[in-house]
Amino acid sequence: MALEPRVWPDSAQLDEAGELIIAGVSARDLVREFGTPLFVVDEAHVRTRAHEFKTEFDDEHMPFTVHYASKAFSAIEILKWVHAEGLGVDVATGGELAMAQAAGVPGKHIVMHGNNKSMHELQRAVQADVRYIVVDSFDEIDRLAQLARGASKPIDVLLRLTLGVEAHTHEFIATAHEDQKFGLSIASGAAERAVIALTETPNVRLCGFHYHIGSQVFDTAGFSIAVSRALGFIAHLRNEHGFVTLELDIGGGLGVAYVPTDDPMPIADFAHELRNVIRAECADLGIPVPKLSLEPGRAVVGGSTVTLYEVGTIKPVELDGGQERVYVSVDGGMSDAIRTALYGAEYTVRLANRAPMDVMVQSRVVGKHCETGDLVVRDCQLPADIRPGDLLAVATTGAYHYSMASNYNLVPRPAVVAVKNGRARLIVRRESEADLLRLQVSDS
Ligand code: LLP
Repeated sequence: MALEPRVWPDSAQLDEAGELIIAGVSARDLVREFGTPLFVVDEAHVRTRAHEFKTEFDDEHMPFTVHYASKAFSAIEILKWVHAEGLGVDVATGGELAMAQAAGVPGKHIVMHGNNKSMHELQRAVQADVRYIVVDSFDEIDRLAQLARGASKPIDVLLRLTLGVEAHTHEFIATAHEDQKFGLSIASGAAERAVIALTETPNVRLCGFHYHIGSQVFDTAGFSIAVSRALGFIAHLRNEHGFVTLELDIGGGLGVAYVPTDDPMPIADFAHELRNVIRAECADLGIPVPKLSLEPGRAVVGGSTVTLYEVGTIKPVELDGGQERVYVSVDGGMSDAIRTALYGAEYTVRLANRAPMDVMVQSRVVGKHCETGDLVVRDCQLPADIRPGDLLAVATTGAYHYSMASNYNLVPRPAVVAVKNGRARLIVRRESEADLLRLQVSDS
């Protein structure tokens, strides 16, 4: 029996006994040593995707700087790998900045985002000498003006644009998506006013623009329309104000496969298509191609990781019409896999410790939290002989799982293990109950 295409880490295989092996390490060995639930990251998978972004986008005729969007999975080791492969890091909070610094990423390879950066976060970004702060509001321009007065050199910034392009999962809606908290709108004139305000702010240097149209995008149309609109705005600013844009950052968003029918665009095709659109559009507008950058998160880490769970309670439930659904409970849940509850996300799951019997039954993988919406995999087929103590592997849990994990019901967050060349290495230790109690303050 073969693994489903596209959704498992590059190095994943099944051995003769049907056990899942990742980078030469078996699921059972991993669980024996590190326990469950467990995030298992295929290091080579992350490095290969990072390298692919670097090489496909760092084209000599139109080079892009690539920043890894660390919100997808922020851990010191992961940031070290992507940085070693030539990527910078995008951070959106002081916490993410601290993690990038702890990984040894120099400020010049860090871009600082955030729609509500505090004065303190801005100060830290300036102290870290980050490559750009991405400005998101007029209030932030005021805060920067204050900071810039005491700064020893100009603060380089990009302005986040709202383009009126909304990218949905799988589908693209070319309606004005103005009603959201990020960026400043081109259509309303706010972006242009912000450009003028920034160019008039002493010791702040507006170097260019940023936008991000959405995440888990499969269709290039959204990216193409977005870049055309941004370039149109850049041409307008040049014609009206003589403003020269040095850099354009096109954000992240490239999707990955969660189920075998998902068919995301290869990184090389994405790069090729973007370059073509940018070249044609700049020629049409009569503007030079600005320096370019992008910020993939999910497409770097999403497919690299699986979550291993131990099966506990198994409960067949009779549905209307006499059918049956088997509820398979695992020892984690919405605290480590919130995307199912939050976005209705779909996943691929399989037995990881042995070959399944041929008969499959309609199943649902649920967690251990006190909530009906605590779903890990909403609809799946699992072997009819599944039993407590079996291991389940859920694929594509590298992006927005650990980074969105919580302690709901005081469930400790899982450990993260990196696997490579037959060896497993702990990179984030499992939380303990002592960790959970650590912040409590009580005199009695
Ligand atoms: N740049 C900016 C400014 C962003 O806001 C994001 C993601 C990225 C880059 C990276 O996007 P990616 O390449 O990973 O699609 N929690 C959601 C995803 C939220 C994405 C937020 N911003 C999920 O689990 O699907």
